[in-house]
Amino acid sequence: MSETPEKPIYGNGPPAEIPQPAKVTVPRVRATKGKRTLLCLTAYDSPTARLVDEAGFDLILVGDSMANVVLGHATTLKLSLDQIISATRAVKRAADRPLVVADMPFGTYHVSIEDTLRNALRLVREGGAQAVKLEGGRTRTHLIQSLVEADIPVMGHVGLLPQSINSEGGYRIQGKNLESARQVLADALAVEEAGAFAVVLEGVPTEVAAVVTRHLSIPTVGIGAGAGTDGQILVFHDVVGLSMGPAPKFVRRYADVADVIRGALSELRSDMLDGSFPNESESYPMSEALPEGWDIDVETRLNREPEL
Ligand code: KIV
Repeated sequence: MSETPEKPIYGNGPPAEIPQPAKVTVPRVRATKGKRTLLCLTAYDSPTARLVDEAGFDLILVGDSMANVVLGHATTLKLSLDQIISATRAVKRAADRPLVVADMPFGTYHVSIEDTLRNALRLVREGGAQAVKLEGGRTRTHLIQSLVEADIPVMGHVGLLPQSINSEGGYRIQGKNLESARQVLADALAVEEAGAFAVVLEGVPTEVAAVVTRHLSIPTVGIGAGAGTDGQILVFHDVVGLSMGPAPKFVRRYADVADVIRGALSELRSDMLDGSFPNESESYPMSEALPEGWDIDVETRLNREPEL
């Protein structure tokens, strides 16, 4: 079950005089509405979660984008519940302050309410997620309501829905005309009405995202949705230059970590080849001198001819 360190309410907690970092909770996320300060990023493992936490981000999404940027799939559709649970546990081991939200993979909320609840409960109990995210607007409100009634906070996701790639025939920006903009707004309002504490707006024009943000009383988190949302989210690997292949237009890359790794591996390779790795300080010395012929003796005992 969960390896998340749990702070007891009674006894054994940290001494009151030691200030603890103010952990981000669902109510704290709600309270960021209108402030444009909600900073979110994805992470899928302990080292990256630690770095995202250290950098001061408020919310870590263990996104199903992991299927693309970690596991090398072309779409997010093949990610399993067990894979996201495992990634969420790794993130929870390292992230202390941010709220950790786990994505519900394709197929884990498409069968029935019971199945959805069971799967979301696993994300919370086994993964340690503090909330779940699922894609879709008006078609998902009954699921969001049931999850919220079961005390599982839900982050909505409307606009471009990567899990709908097959029904949409590709990744298509939503809300580009009046009819589509009204659909995005209706979906966002429905998700809020159903009880979501925040909603991701993906792949919608800036003006539409800004209007949706004004209509909603919960924070909107944009990705490819312009600067008018309450918060922003990007995929970790895109930001640091670790995702292979062309990045979407909305990505801003702040580092080229792949190039740093390429340089390091190329140096290691030549050091291995020319024998300069490992050197003496990277090797273990003896604590006593070996007697002459110690190895010959062993070979004799193994009935082999010693190589002299
Ligand atoms: O899986 C993911 O990374 C996401 C973000 C794009 C919001 O859903």
